[in-house]
Parts: sequence; C-alpha cells; structure tokens
Amino acid sequence: MSIKAAPSILSGDFSKMGEEAARMQSAGADMIHCDVMDGVFVPNLTFGPKMVADIKKCVSIPMDVHLMITEPERYIGHFIKSGANYLSFHVEATTKAKEILLAIRYAGVKTGIAICPETPLGSIYDLLGDCDFVVVMGVHPGFSGQKYIPDTTERIKTLKREIIARGLNVEIEMDGGANESNIDEIIAAGSDINVSGSCAFNSPNPEKIIKKFQGLC
Ligand code: DX5
Ligand code: ZN
Repeated sequence: MSIKAAPSILSGDFSKMGEEAARMQSAGADMIHCDVMDGVFVPNLTFGPKMVADIKKCVSIPMDVHLMITEPERYIGHFIKSGANYLSFHVEATTKAKEILLAIRYAGVKTGIAICPETPLGSIYDLLGDCDFVVVMGVHPGFSGQKYIPDTTERIKTLKREIIARGLNVEIEMDGGANESNIDEIIAAGSDINVSGSCAFNSPNPEKIIKKFQGLC
C-alpha cells in the first residue's frame, strides 16, 4: 500500500479554499484533510459541512474530514452528505464511538477514530475491528503549526504492532506537527497517511513536501 499525503486546509487561505485545495491536488496530494472544530472540544472554530461540500467541487481527490467536535453523532449524517470520503471523530468526544463507526461504514465512507496525545491507546483497541483508519494526533488538537510531541512516534509503533498482530486492515494517519525533519521517523514507525498543514501550505515547493510525506524522497 502506498503512503498518502493529506494536506490540511486549516493552513490554507480561508478566503479561497477551493483554489487552495486545487493547488494541493496539483502538487500531488492524495486527499484533502478538513479540520472541523466546534470551539468546545477544542479552543478554535473552523467550518461545517457546506465548506466540505464546496471544496469538494474544486478537486477530484478524496475529502478526509477530521471532526474535532463534541457529540459527533449529531453531525455525522451532515458530513456524509457533504461528500466526506474519509470521516473521523474523537474517541474522547463521545460515548457512542462504536455506533458512529458502524453508521459511517454503513454509508460507504471510510471510518476513523482519532485519539489525542494523552489518551491511552488501549482506549481504542476494542474499536479497531470497526475502523478503516486511526488518526494519531501528534499535537493537542486545535491549531496548525504546533510542535510535534515526540512520544507520538512510539505510539504509532505500538498501534502498528497491535494492528498487525490482530491481522487487521486499519491504516494509521498521523496528524499534527509533521515536518521535513521528522517525517522519515513517522513513516518508519508505520504511518500510512501523513497530514501536513503548515509544512505543505507555507512551502514555496509543496510538490517536494508532498513527495516527502509520501515517503518518495
Ligand atoms: C490540528 C489539526 C491538524 C493540523 C495540522 O488540530 O487536526 O490537522 O491542521 O497542522 P500542522 O501540520 O501544521 O501541525
Ligand atoms: Zn486534523
């Protein structure tokens, strides 16, 4: 399976989201990562399903929607309708994780659980059988451009071992703090999808960053 690069539109210019997504697609991105924040689960606000649907009209690659909202069960249907191809929510944000995973999968959308840096990995082990991917946070969710939390690499390795030991087909998505200096270590640890916010959008050469995040250079 090839390693995917997922630029996060959170670091794009919000006055021209469609163009920003198209720019990343032209640079070789595999999917567009959309960070949805509610100002409650995280101390920041971004956008809702209409933005996802409108960005989707400007690209042909999959939309990877990362919900950082409380009680995501309230909005899952809206984001499925908006055209999300990958849809993840936080294990810390709901008591209904299993039902949500099943509902997303039933809709034919890739279903993912996201986990914050301080949450024990064991809290998602019972859910792995119902996931297509796990979003391992490399920063405290809320903002792009934060520093990578070094323990994340070990968490990716541990999770990868668990997935392999159980013979599961679950991808690991690393989100937050990845850059040109640590991406090789993140890929070597077992990350299959690499999110890049500030690194891809602020670079004069996003093609190069995306290749690096795909493990190709
Ligand atoms: C953080 C978001 C990330 C963020 C990544 O809450 O979930 O997707 O945009 O940005 P960088 O790569 O700059 O850390
Ligand atoms: Zn994200």
